[in-house]
Amino acid sequence: DDNNKESRGALVVLEGLDRSGKSSQCSRLVSYLEGQGLSAELWRFPDRTTNVGQMISAYLSNASQLDDHTIHLLFSANRWEKRSLMETKLKSGITLIVDRYSYSGVAFSSAKGLDIEWCKAPEIGLLAPDLVAYLDISPDKAAKRGGYGDERYEKLEFQKKVAEHYKVLHDASWKVVDACQTIEDVEKQLQEIVLSCVTECQKGKALSSLWS
Ligand code: TYD
Ligand code: MG
Repeated sequence: DDNNKESRGALVVLEGLDRSGKSSQCSRLVSYLEGQGLSAELWRFPDRTTNVGQMISAYLSNASQLDDHTIHLLFSANRWEKRSLMETKLKSGITLIVDRYSYSGVAFSSAKGLDIEWCKAPEIGLLAPDLVAYLDISPDKAAKRGGYGDERYEKLEFQKKVAEHYKVLHDASWKVVDACQTIEDVEKQLQEIVLSCVTECQKGKALSSLWS
């Protein structure tokens, strides 16, 4: 089928604990790709700009209280409301570098004790990333970097649980990058991995859906 062979952008997801360096690496990646003459955009979840995103933001800053299931579904809805735009962008050849995605959704909620299969269910049918890069750092080291804000999940004990739940989600396709290297070394490693993923998608790798 020719449709499956059309060139497209890559869906690249960075995951990791709070303070693992995702946000700075995401913006560096976008600059790098642009420097290579490629179109790329920086995305992040939660996307706090939407109505749903504002509810999430209020919850995270402790301005509102929500049942664990409810907030889980809001995080998921926040991805669903961006799904079609995501697909349009990818098909128009734009690579999306995404700071957190469904894996954060499942890792953080299951770390609170919610059933993992229940957590995964609302993510079914979202676009599957072409690449998941996990910025690996121990919770203790991440906490020592300082700069945990006052948000709900930014506490060492909880981050330890999240780290354990990320491990459950890991599969062989994930690229694990040691986040304790220098910023430049992490950056170099990511550039290589991401560029080869982008090339694969340019050659027409088919888009697929979670969980695959
Ligand atoms: P974060 O990326 O840390 O935002 P910021 O850089 O603005 O602080 O995301 C906020 C928190 O939300 C973070 O602790 C992880 C959590 N989270 C979930 O619990 N579920 C999700 O689906 C997502 C995307 C994030
Ligand atoms: Mg944070």
